[in-house]
Amino acid sequence: MIEADLAIVDASELVTVRGAAPLRGAAQGDLGIVEHGCLAAREGIIVFVGDERDYRRQVRLVRSGVEIDAGGRTVLPGFVDPHTHLPFAGSREREFSLRLQGTRYDEIAAQGGGILSTVEATRRASYDALVDLGKSRLHRMLLHGTTTIEAKSGYGLTLEDELKQLRVLKALDGIHPVDIVPTFLGAHAVPREYRGDRGAYVREIVDRMIPEVARQGLARFCDVFVEEIAFTPEEGEAILSAAARSGLGLRVHADQLADTGGALLAARLGAASADHLEHTGEAGVRALAGSPTAAVLLPGAAFFLRTPGSGLGRRFVDAQVPVAVATDFNPGTCPTEAMPAILPLACLNFGLSAAEAIVASTLNAAYSLGLAGTIGSLEVGKIADAQVLEVPNHLHLVYHFGVNHCRTVVKNGRLVVEDGAIAGEARRAPAGNGASDKTSG
Ligand code: NIG
Ligand code: FE
Repeated sequence: MIEADLAIVDASELVTVRGAAPLRGAAQGDLGIVEHGCLAAREGIIVFVGDERDYRRQVRLVRSGVEIDAGGRTVLPGFVDPHTHLPFAGSREREFSLRLQGTRYDEIAAQGGGILSTVEATRRASYDALVDLGKSRLHRMLLHGTTTIEAKSGYGLTLEDELKQLRVLKALDGIHPVDIVPTFLGAHAVPREYRGDRGAYVREIVDRMIPEVARQGLARFCDVFVEEIAFTPEEGEAILSAAARSGLGLRVHADQLADTGGALLAARLGAASADHLEHTGEAGVRALAGSPTAAVLLPGAAFFLRTPGSGLGRRFVDAQVPVAVATDFNPGTCPTEAMPAILPLACLNFGLSAAEAIVASTLNAAYSLGLAGTIGSLEVGKIADAQVLEVPNHLHLVYHFGVNHCRTVVKNGRLVVEDGAIAGEARRAPAGNGASDKTSG
């Protein structure tokens, strides 16, 4: 008999999403559904996946074990959100309101608003305040089924302020059930102090920030915003090459507002991901197809900026590029923590099927973070990160949009969301509306 300390039984659909490598092309829609599916885990690792009959025959729950009845419900891997800007202060609803009246995002940035206004707010915020904000946001993510995220700095733009954001991420990763993969994004914008001498800021990133971030082990990846309003491909290449020399993995904010060669750069450097890609041309698509780089699409940001994204996902899936999707959670272009809000946009605006969108938000997202061997699918040997949705099949996740179907979340084999609320132990990292729990850290 297989011994287990946690089981989820009798799911109408157990969506397994098989693989330790990304699913591309026709395979991106392969969900590996087990009907009347059961999953069992021991000490955080999945030890059984199969149907109810085999489960009853093969698995024995230890005395203190937990059995979750998923009868009539759908079980998915926990969402992996591979692109967020989690640690920031302030909000930008006034800028949003200006955009509703017709002002463009790049116009607001050129007037000193946009990213730089969040930089000011984040520099002013204390470490503790950022930890509290982060906890509330991670709680909302977890309640929507997200169990691992990538999170970027990039609202500090000085060595000290970037380190502050990355330390906040390290602290949050330690106290919250959601796992955080940290990314250094010092090249998010040229800060005001360097406006007259952008070369000096690039040198500051290359010579001082990257080595120090790497020395302190505070980031796994380095990202650059390659764009007219941010950094040129040449500057991006200098920064990413330095990051690679320091042992960091690479990500690129590419071709969000115009085709500036970001996708080509990401492919050429063998980056882990090229993100956005709303304006990538044919050459960029071909380059990505011939590289290991994942396309991390951000349908929420495209929606929020009213960028016509029509068919973008189809284009990359059909070109055999592994497609992931993410929230891009940030105060300017996508202020939502909820992956379930992103999937309908990935389907209706970017042309993915529901199955492709689910693979994009689980296994392929894990791949883009270098984690496809351990998370992103429900298979024996992987970490037990799963969610139970109050819907009879996976199509409802996209079809019945605008509400949260997630009722139960299991992270590392432990129950962290129960009946749609943060459960037991996990609650000890509470936050919410400025309330803080200083004893939890
Ligand atoms: O991914 N594109 C650059 N960064 C963010 C926006 C950040 C902001 O507006 O504060 C993005 O869309
Ligand atoms: Fe982003």
